[in-house]
Amino acid sequence: MALTRSVFLNWLRIAGRELEANKGLLTQLDAAIGDADHGINMDRGFSKILEQLPTLEDHDIGGLLKSAGMALVSSVGGAAGPLYGTFFLRAGASVEGRWEIGPNDLARLLREGVRGVAERGKAAPGAKTMLDALSPAVDALEAALGSGADIALALRECVAAADKGMKDTIPLVATKGRASYLGERSAGHQDPGATSSYLILRALAEALESHD
Ligand SMILES: Nc1ncnc2c1ncn2[C@@H]1O[C@H](COP(=O)(O)OP(=O)(O)O)[C@@H](O)[C@H]1O
Ligand SMILES: [Mg+2]
Repeated sequence: MALTRSVFLNWLRIAGRELEANKGLLTQLDAAIGDADHGINMDRGFSKILEQLPTLEDHDIGGLLKSAGMALVSSVGGAAGPLYGTFFLRAGASVEGRWEIGPNDLARLLREGVRGVAERGKAAPGAKTMLDALSPAVDALEAALGSGADIALALRECVAAADKGMKDTIPLVATKGRASYLGERSAGHQDPGATSSYLILRALAEALESHD
C-alpha cells in the first residue's frame, strides 16, 4: 500500500487536534514532575505547524515533515520543541523528494526520527522520556512489518507499544530532562513527553485509517 502525501498532511492535522484536546492533561502531567508547560508547548508548536500548512502545497512528504520540524524548533521553548523538531526534521530528510512512500519507508522515517531524538537529547529508553514511548513503538512497527503484517495492523501494534511504553514510565525514576531534578520523587508519575509521543503516533494510525 502506498502512503501518499495526504496521509502525512492528515497526520499533522489530527496530531494538532489531539494535542490541543489533551493540552490540559499534558500540562497536568508536567505539573507533577516538571514545570506545567508541556501541553502549552505542544499546542503552540502544532498550531504553528497547522498555520503554515496552506503555504506548503508544493512540498513533498519530506518537505512537509521538515517544515513541521522547523516550526517546532522555532516556536517551542523548553526541551520538547527542539526534540520533536529534530524528530520531524530527521524523519523528513529520510524521505526527501518523495510524494508517496511504502510501509518500510515509513518505518525508516520513524526510526530516523527516534534516532534524532536520542542523539539530540543524549538519552536512551529507561530515562523516563518520550523515548520510552517512541522507541518500543518503532521496534513493534518494524517487527510487525518483518513478520508480514500490513501497514494498518503494523501501525496498530506500534500504537499499542507506545501506549504500553507510556504507562511503563510511571514507576521509572527520571534521569534526563527537568524531571530528573526530582530524583526518586519523579517515580509514580507518567512522563508528559511519552504521553505526547503516544498521541502523535496514535494520530498517525488514525490518519492512515481515515485515508481512502
Ligand atoms: N534529554 C531528553 N531526551 C528525550 N526527551 C526528553 C529529554 N529531556 C526532556 N525530555 C522530554 O521532554 C518532556 C518535557 O517537555 P516540556 O515540558 O515541553 O519541556 P521542559 O522540560 O523544558 O519544560 C519530558 O516529559 C520528556 O519526555
Ligand atoms: Mg515542561
